[in-house]
Amino acid sequence: MCKECKKPYYITTPIYYPSGNPHIGHCYTTVACDSIARYRRMQGYDVMFLTGTDEHGLKIEQKAAEKGVTPKEYVDEIVKVFKSLWKTMNISYDRYIRTTDDYHIKSVQWIFNELYKRGYIYKGEYTGKYCTPCESFWTESQLDENGCCPECHREVTEAKEEAYFFKMSPFADRIEKLLTETDYLQPKTRATELVNNFIRPGLEDLCVSRTTFKWGIPVTFDEGHVVYVWIDALSNYITALGYQNDQYDDFNKFWPADVHMVAKDIMRFHAIIWPAMLMALELPLPKHLAVHGWITFNGQKMSKSLGNVVDPVILSERYGADSIRYHILREMALGADSSFSNEIMINRINSDLANGLGNLVSRTVAMADKYFGGTLPEEREEGEFDSELIAEASALREKVDGLMDKTQLNNALAEIFKVVSRANKYIDETAPWVLGKDESKKARLASVLYNLLDTIRIVSTLLNCFMPSTMPKVWEQIGAGDPDVTYENAGKFGVLPANVTVKRGDIIFPRIDVDKEIDELNKIIGDNSPAEETEDDGFKPAPLADEITIDDFAKIDLRVALVKECEKVKKSKKLLCLQLDDGMGGRQVVSGIAQWYKPEDLIGKKIVLVANLKPVKLCGVESNGMICAADTPDGAASVVFPDQTLPCGAKLR
Ligand code: MSP
Repeated sequence: MCKECKKPYYITTPIYYPSGNPHIGHCYTTVACDSIARYRRMQGYDVMFLTGTDEHGLKIEQKAAEKGVTPKEYVDEIVKVFKSLWKTMNISYDRYIRTTDDYHIKSVQWIFNELYKRGYIYKGEYTGKYCTPCESFWTESQLDENGCCPECHREVTEAKEEAYFFKMSPFADRIEKLLTETDYLQPKTRATELVNNFIRPGLEDLCVSRTTFKWGIPVTFDEGHVVYVWIDALSNYITALGYQNDQYDDFNKFWPADVHMVAKDIMRFHAIIWPAMLMALELPLPKHLAVHGWITFNGQKMSKSLGNVVDPVILSERYGADSIRYHILREMALGADSSFSNEIMINRINSDLANGLGNLVSRTVAMADKYFGGTLPEEREEGEFDSELIAEASALREKVDGLMDKTQLNNALAEIFKVVSRANKYIDETAPWVLGKDESKKARLASVLYNLLDTIRIVSTLLNCFMPSTMPKVWEQIGAGDPDVTYENAGKFGVLPANVTVKRGDIIFPRIDVDKEIDELNKIIGDNSPAEETEDDGFKPAPLADEITIDDFAKIDLRVALVKECEKVKKSKKLLCLQLDDGMGGRQVVSGIAQWYKPEDLIGKKIVLVANLKPVKLCGVESNGMICAADTPDGAASVVFPDQTLPCGAKLR
């Protein structure tokens, strides 16, 4: 397709604060956007994938001063680290914006002036609370129960100064409709908290200038005022396309954006402030805002300030960027947090990549090599099990398309790996090693191996956007050329030539020695994590219960179940009501964990259910079972999340 005929597609990550080195939490959004961008390119879109850095503010000014360099010199070094990480992770961004770029500064000044001219920005006096680490202003009512920042829970300072304000109220109704009546927000379940917390109580005017530090974009018509970081940062999505500057000229082509992807802590800015700014400028609104949870480490958001970061460069060096990309994408369900653990990561790499896909490729190629010298004969004989495998492989692209449209990357991967498992099962069902011993079964054997090779072709074509450095190696081994691995052909079975020639190669995902690696990783990474330390946490295990027999234990029926829906029980501070898929028709359970979990932390997660507990009513709501949770040192309950690949209804023994 010629470039002019392609449909444009614009996807963005947030622009990252270069206040320290990036960690695996930052990688999630970028890898997810990269996978979508690659998928859209494969589908034939003309993609613009934007990322960048948010170079502004007191925090960076202070860090630079500590190091005795200018803020720009400080961020120049960190930007190099970000760019090198994106290279390691195979991130195919098309444009990188730095908010210290001249063109961006010019455009932001134009935007600020324009909003002022239109009467949406006015001068007033700011009195309130300010959180320096988050660079956010808060009203008294928004602070947490300790009077601290509602986002990072650190202390806020009193701030009083002359400042400019952005009138938000004219846009309240339109924003509420955008959140509740359109599919702007993904997942839409998040709309309720935004509407109830910010819009219904009355959208407050936003303080959009500061005078207490210098490192930011100056307001042109009032010396000493610097444009508020979020007005500056959000504008990047349009300045990077050339909005009100001469640097680029593709604003008309790519705007409105197809997807802005962000984590939940910055959803409010993208769901309320950004649409308000665009409405005030009379610009079209982006099509989707995809909001994901955090990668957590021992239950806390992974972040530099908490000192619990996992270094993606170390992980990529040990296991390859593709394994890390796969792991973080597979673990994160849109709408829920994903807890990072070295053990889960290694087990996932071993089970899905080494045993699942890797084994499928190496067994198939090895058999084609052994029984046919590498080139399949053209004679064929259909047999039992073929139609099921072919049907599943042929239907895969359509399923993945739908899930990619909904930004459900974990589910897209799950669908692809179902076909991988199906193909491995097909090997067991058809037993090619038995066919190989019988000269009269050669045509049947050729059919079996062809079906496997063509299934691998479909699977690897669809996986290429998630694991772009490994799939070309698979194609080489299965004898697939470039025309075979197009999007169009991923929807068809029987594309490889009948006499395809395979080429044995290296193992694509080597198995990892779990115990050895966990020790090594804990030495390297675990040392970073104060939360990993167990010696000093003061935890006293509860006294051991009375001894029981195995028969007593057998009376307790523990099952894996998926949280499909979850909401707070009205009139209760402690209870959550969960709708579960227990593999047996579903059920409702009430659990006293609302102090520690928000509904969105659980939706999409598999948990362990005590399935044969007598039903009770809690606060008038029926509960059919109990969710298993463990005591934590600080007296909280930590829900037990089993291996997320286990099927609903799996019994624990
Ligand atoms: N500069 C702002 C974004 C401006 S966008 C117009 C910012 N930067 S940040 O570097 O602090 O965070 C960038 C993104 O990384 C945010 O979406 C943030 O939530 C995400 N993450 C940071 N730590 C994370 C995890 N541990 N897990 C998942 N995402 C995390 O906010």
